[in-house]
Amino acid sequence: MPSVYINTDRKPLTGLPPPNPKVKSFHQALPLYRPTPLVSLPEIAQQLGIQYLLVKDESSRLGLPAFKILGASWATARAVAKHVGLETRFLATSENIDNDLSLKNLASAAQTADLALYAATDGNHGRAVGRMAKYLGIKARIFIPGMVDEETKSKIASEGAAVEVVNGSYDQTMIATKLACDQHEGGKGLLISDTALEIEDEVPQWIVEGYQTMFDEIEEQIREATGRQTITHVIVPVGAGSLACAVVTHFSTPRSPKPEIMTVEPESAACLKASLEAGKMTSVHATYTICTGMCCGTLSASVWPILREGVTVASTVNDQEVDKAIHTLQEYSISTGPCGAASFAAIQKLARVEGIQLGPNSVVIILCTEAKRGYELRA
Ligand SMILES: Cc1ncc(COP(=O)(O)O)c(C=O)c1O
Repeated sequence: MPSVYINTDRKPLTGLPPPNPKVKSFHQALPLYRPTPLVSLPEIAQQLGIQYLLVKDESSRLGLPAFKILGASWATARAVAKHVGLETRFLATSENIDNDLSLKNLASAAQTADLALYAATDGNHGRAVGRMAKYLGIKARIFIPGMVDEETKSKIASEGAAVEVVNGSYDQTMIATKLACDQHEGGKGLLISDTALEIEDEVPQWIVEGYQTMFDEIEEQIREATGRQTITHVIVPVGAGSLACAVVTHFSTPRSPKPEIMTVEPESAACLKASLEAGKMTSVHATYTICTGMCCGTLSASVWPILREGVTVASTVNDQEVDKAIHTLQEYSISTGPCGAASFAAIQKLARVEGIQLGPNSVVIILCTEAKRGYELRA
């Protein structure tokens, strides 16, 4: 199976939500907020024959080692607000978040309503939901598939969350989590899922909305890094596809040039590439990869219609390529884990593929989504 698919059969995207300016002001008010770096790698750009290669380094985001807290925090806040009747305050009516939606006030509303958070995860999302529960002073139950390692499990538990192992795949874990949330006893369980089982599920859409802050920062940093506002390509890692959906949504607003959105998945869990090739949403049997956060066999239902039209190129990488990319990035002082290095592994490949418009004027951003962590490279 070729590792690159060029999606030529795309229709113009319409009806995507405009950016919500409140997202960034909400994040700015959270503990430990600061923009993550956008790092230029001129030597590698030269080797690849492009003008700029810029790495958005999400290895430390709001005090956690991955970007996922951006979506988990915003979606949790909206879910709590909806439950206590404050939902409209989150709509994009003005730039700033109201003071009465501070973490302190949301915490007291969540505690009064006796809320508990539920999430399925293969690591980063669950830890982020656990952190939000800690901030709000409420309980969290986080469900993980059996293949998740002990270190990841104990990091989630370190947030104070109850961690429960499901003997099955990520897709089966999601279903088990929903069931447990529906059966929550005492108070009310809120399911903070980063993957939609149904196209109209609103929490996964809030997760996508929460990633907006990353792009707001990039828009501010790009001029400083390159002297211009131009971005020609963005390479984004895909698990269930929420981050890629946020990328497509952000760059669908009128601008010239319009960046090409290129995705990367593990060879062993390439459900987006399989779906694009089939022309319909398609599940794959996901098997072990060091890119744990990207090991999803099925896309989030709500992202598929957007990715189908918005992704220009879908690529896959294997664990050996990712491992090599981790070590190369390390030489440039970028310390990342497998999901973070996957987009770097992909650009090495994409730069050599005929039919892909990468050249001396290209300004390429790669999303490097997690910090360095241990992994087991299997033969
Ligand atoms: C570190 C990391 N990178 C990338 C992804 C993929 O994001 P998405 O599931 O939104 O496609 C994940 C998902 O958990 C992740 O943890």
